[in-house]
Amino acid sequence: MSLALIVLAAGKGTRMRSADPKVLHKVAGVPMVIHALNAAAPLAPARRLVVVGHGGAAVRAQVQAHDASIEFVEQTEQLGTGHAVDQARAALADFDGDVAVLLGDTPFISPDTLSRIRDRRAEGSDLVVLGFEAADPGKYGRLVAQGDRLERIVEAKDATPEELAIRLCNSGVICADRALMFDLIAQLNDDNASGEYYLTDIIGLANDAGRTCSVVVCDEAETLGVNSRIDLAAADGIFQARARQAAMAAGVTLQAPDTVYFSYDTQLGQDVIVEPNVVFGLGVRVEDGVTIRAFSHLEGCHVAAGATVGPYARLRPGSTIGAGARVGNFVETKNADIAAGAKLNHLSYIGDAEVGAEANIGAGTITCNYDGVFKHRTEIGAGAFIGSNASLVAPVSVGAGAMVGAGSVVTRDVPDQALAVTRAEQKILPDLARKLRERRLAMKAKK
Ligand code: UD1
Ligand code: CA
Repeated sequence: MSLALIVLAAGKGTRMRSADPKVLHKVAGVPMVIHALNAAAPLAPARRLVVVGHGGAAVRAQVQAHDASIEFVEQTEQLGTGHAVDQARAALADFDGDVAVLLGDTPFISPDTLSRIRDRRAEGSDLVVLGFEAADPGKYGRLVAQGDRLERIVEAKDATPEELAIRLCNSGVICADRALMFDLIAQLNDDNASGEYYLTDIIGLANDAGRTCSVVVCDEAETLGVNSRIDLAAADGIFQARARQAAMAAGVTLQAPDTVYFSYDTQLGQDVIVEPNVVFGLGVRVEDGVTIRAFSHLEGCHVAAGATVGPYARLRPGSTIGAGARVGNFVETKNADIAAGAKLNHLSYIGDAEVGAEANIGAGTITCNYDGVFKHRTEIGAGAFIGSNASLVAPVSVGAGAMVGAGSVVTRDVPDQALAVTRAEQKILPDLARKLRERRLAMKAKK
């Protein structure tokens, strides 16, 4: 049966105390709403709709940048989760299949759990709700159930003390046939403690109409709803713990796992060694046998097999580090193609550049890529040797096998195998050091 996904993302998220809409706050580098959408991807939903309201333009922009095929419906006033789903009524009027509602502030539902919900629907349950046993049920809606059979959901604000004692809570995920879902939503009212149209009230209505409702239970870690920055940090913590476990299980050594930060798309090959305090920003792919030494920061880069990065290296977007290359301490690369076996061992900035195979970049070398208005490229040939503290003023090229003398400022292309030196010639003034020193010591003695 085909599936339409509705992700609710119109709320303000007052408790975040933020100028940005809640669902755009990031876990492991991507907005929560995108985690929610990704979670459902393995179910291959035929339609995906995001209900936007607060900060709607920003939410649309970010979601669309992630995947242009996602649709949006607007909820101009936030009158509750039932009202939010109702905004998708027209867009789905002709849809033949199931609707699954997910909350944009609940980023971690697993694909496995979602498929268990689909299975339960296939077994004939008209409405399926995802629940969890909460350690601290707090403000979650409570599931009033007899065994597998769900009778109704009561929001914490409206619950009696007996109902508040229930630990089985509502995750926010509800799945039903499209026509049934919208028929039930049409019957909702806002006669409750919050004055909102609660989606959760459709369970009671469904039972009244003789429909069957059931609960699928999952782990609480999957259903953590993010309402504050404290919850956001907890969500990121859950993500990080999973990412570290997965990396180690796949053959990565993490010397101090708790100090390594992953993004949702970090890819590390087998026998990669990651020393303490490494940050993987978005878009990092590291091949087998690479060592990432302590305190390095990588983002938008590809590191080929056997390379060594760091300690204290910074690889910025567009960096490609070739097989066996070495990027050492306090080296920054950006939009740079470093070929196999090249060495950038100390204190360099290599930006908008190509570095040939086995080239050696001396300490303190800088590619001067920016003239204040335009960015320019630097090309360094295979086997070139750049002396320490050279400034390569782009656009410029240094040929294969060429050498640049230490301290040179290179403004013109250097042919293959040539030597370029631009520094002033050295003078020797015999004995002058001793004379100067004695004169100064004499002055000091007089004071
Ligand atoms: C909701 C559930 C509760 C459940 C909990 C799980 C209802 C009435 N309550 O409560 O049973 O235990 O989630 O985390 O459904 N939203 C809109 N438009 C609105 C209101 C909300 O788009 O008018 C969106 C919010 O942006 C958010 C999501 O729906 O992403 C959940 O809303 P929120 O107000 O956080 O609901 P809870 O009080 O957490
Ligand atoms: Ca919530």
